[in-house]
Amino acid sequence: MRRAAGPLGAALLLAGCQREFSSVHPVGPQAARISDLTWFLTVVGSVVFVVVMGVLAYALWRGRRRAESASGPEADRRLTRWVAGAVAATAVIMGVELVYNFYTGRELAAFADSSALTVRVTGHQWWWEVEYEDPNVSRRVTTANEIHVPVGRKVRLEVQSADVIHSFWAPNLHGKIDLIPGYGGTTYFRADEAGVFYGRCAEFCGMQHAHMDFRVFADPPERFAAWYEAQLRSSTPPSDSVRQKGQQVFLSRQCSMCHTIRGTAAGSRVGPDLTHLASRTTLAAGTLPNTRGHLGGWVLDPQGIKPGSRMPPNQLTADELQALLSYLQSLK
Ligand code: CUA
Repeated sequence: MRRAAGPLGAALLLAGCQREFSSVHPVGPQAARISDLTWFLTVVGSVVFVVVMGVLAYALWRGRRRAESASGPEADRRLTRWVAGAVAATAVIMGVELVYNFYTGRELAAFADSSALTVRVTGHQWWWEVEYEDPNVSRRVTTANEIHVPVGRKVRLEVQSADVIHSFWAPNLHGKIDLIPGYGGTTYFRADEAGVFYGRCAEFCGMQHAHMDFRVFADPPERFAAWYEAQLRSSTPPSDSVRQKGQQVFLSRQCSMCHTIRGTAAGSRVGPDLTHLASRTTLAAGTLPNTRGHLGGWVLDPQGIKPGSRMPPNQLTADELQALLSYLQSLK
């Protein structure tokens, strides 16, 4: 996976050059409609700007030459005609934009489909809880921060918030949808290309708003099915004494007060479900790559990495930490 970093990365991001986080590189029908509208508004706005600047330059040039003669009833009438013409042109242009905007909104609303895959996303300060709905309760999947979807199938996205207002935005797939406490929101999207598409929270939601990223993995249907089956399974039991010790550390320390690992006694839902932590590519809502070193740093000193986050620091001996890491890394 590519991730632009540093000032150059930020500049590329702003320029829309990072294809995996770009509203002008749509990979689904909803994003394509929004992209068309964006280009239309950009082109119309640019033309209007050029025309207005041209008229202004002409008026300044002419005004200097004829400062004296430009008065009297004839000049007043001419001025009135210009202003009336400009107001009419503005009204027509804005009317066309309004109609196109409305038409795009209607097109987006027409994607509703009862056979879509339902994914419920809950915004938390500062991570994303992801649940896959299924009429059969034993086939529901819970994960965090990484959303897998099958290419070519519509996804019904249901959003809600556990605390403050967040906004779910994966620009290659769709526009923003707000997560408002106490209100559910629903929208649809479809990925027509396989790939990893970045998303982030697009509504300021507190100290770590900038570290509230997610990823959408658009997988070919077979790969998605395999991923789903793997996520349905309970956690891998510890296979050796080090991992057994690691599990003991997890269950006896404060970890289990916030996290779930299915197949163990840990069942709290304050923080992300860790049953298949090792199958994810990042930690702390896209803040860190999911490697042993970063995981260790995160467990010991989350406040140093993501100040204000809800994860408390953990005091562990070197042996306990290594055992815990071995256990967590076995949760594929
Ligand atoms: Cu959540 Cu910004």
